Amino acid sequence: MKTQFTILEKYRMLKTFHVTIIYMMFIFFNMARSRDNTLPSHVRLNSALTCRVVGGLTREQRSVCHEAPDTTAIAFEGLQLAVKECQHQFRWHRWNCSSLALKNSNPHSSAIMKRGFRESSFVYALSAAGIAHAIARACAQGRLLSCGCDPLGYRVSHDPRGRAKANKWEWSGCSHNLAYGIEFSKKFLDVREQVDDLQSKINVHNNNAGRSILSSHMEVRCKCHGVSGSCQLRTCWRATPDFRVVASTIKRQYRKALVVAQEELNNGLSVLRGRPRGRRRSRARPAPKTSLLFFEKSPSFCEPDIRTDSAGTSGRVCRIGRTSRTGSCDLLCCGRGHALIRKSSIKPCNCTFHWCCRVDCQRCKDDKWIAICK
Ligand SMILES: *[C@@H]1O[C@H](CO)[C@@H](O)[C@H](O)[C@H]1NC(C)=O
Ligand SMILES: *[C@@H]1O[C@H](CO)[C@@H](O)[C@H](O)[C@H]1NC(C)=O
Repeated sequence: MKTQFTILEKYRMLKTFHVTIIYMMFIFFNMARSRDNTLPSHVRLNSALTCRVVGGLTREQRSVCHEAPDTTAIAFEGLQLAVKECQHQFRWHRWNCSSLALKNSNPHSSAIMKRGFRESSFVYALSAAGIAHAIARACAQGRLLSCGCDPLGYRVSHDPRGRAKANKWEWSGCSHNLAYGIEFSKKFLDVREQVDDLQSKINVHNNNAGRSILSSHMEVRCKCHGVSGSCQLRTCWRATPDFRVVASTIKRQYRKALVVAQEELNNGLSVLRGRPRGRRRSRARPAPKTSLLFFEKSPSFCEPDIRTDSAGTSGRVCRIGRTSRTGSCDLLCCGRGHALIRKSSIKPCNCTFHWCCRVDCQRCKDDKWIAICK
């Protein structure tokens, strides 16, 4: 039997081979060095490094980190991705996620994560999704030794409508390993919630909501094979979506987040119930899997307050115009008003193209008026 490998597979094998060689040299070097010939010291050295750089981990998380330092490192890439997206989604809000980017690059050690605001629920969901997303991709890219392409992706039965047979396509590409990503996201984040109280349950619910939203946006990508792209055979695989898509969906859930029902305070139900905001009278319903839950009314975030991670809005750039729009000076400046500031920059302009091949530009002063909250 002859086995054929695609170029990608060959490249991956070569890469794994390289990593293995370097790893073995590293072990050898360390064994030669260490006096006591017990456990090769590289294991401890390696994980101690990764796990120390990362701040704000709970004791349980640190033990997960020591068990799998390389996967934890990718998890942190996922958290950074989440923080970046948070800043994008909330760029015109009074609270704009900037506080998440400060604390030792671990968003969970921010003050807002200890609260039950709608903003907190958003960040919980987004970071859980970010971790699963980063790991699912890293597995498929061969960046982790503990996982590879999603093996389920190969099964034809995976396709619900059996299109595989009809259109001559098969799951033979390398699917992003969502299952592994979700498993690690649970293992690494949900373990923070050790206390058996309502807040912990809500945090885990929001983590799950983020991961469910990610799962429901998985994409199928295909590539054609055959003479000059005739597509006689297509290979397909599952891929995680662009993270912006996931973040925008979680943002929509943030807008219609449910407030946890008071009655939940002392019931042991596994599914939490909530009701839409501002509808005290409506009956609490079991929260759908993808809904965000919160239990604390958000402050205005107008003034600086370290207890809520609020930097205040003084000095923020706001949008002149329609007052109801997010980021409008009326909303963002909390009624304190705004100042107009002229911002000048030099830009190339009036460019002309000379045959061939030269472009001449004039340098123009570009004046822009921007509004800043008082
Ligand atoms: C977010 O808010 C902080 C504090 O008010 C401010 O310094 C920063 O420029 C804001 N970021 C964006 C993208 O507006
Ligand atoms: C561009 O060039 C035209 C004529 O050459 C001139 O009238 C105009 O002021 C220039 N624009 C800028 C922004 O300098």
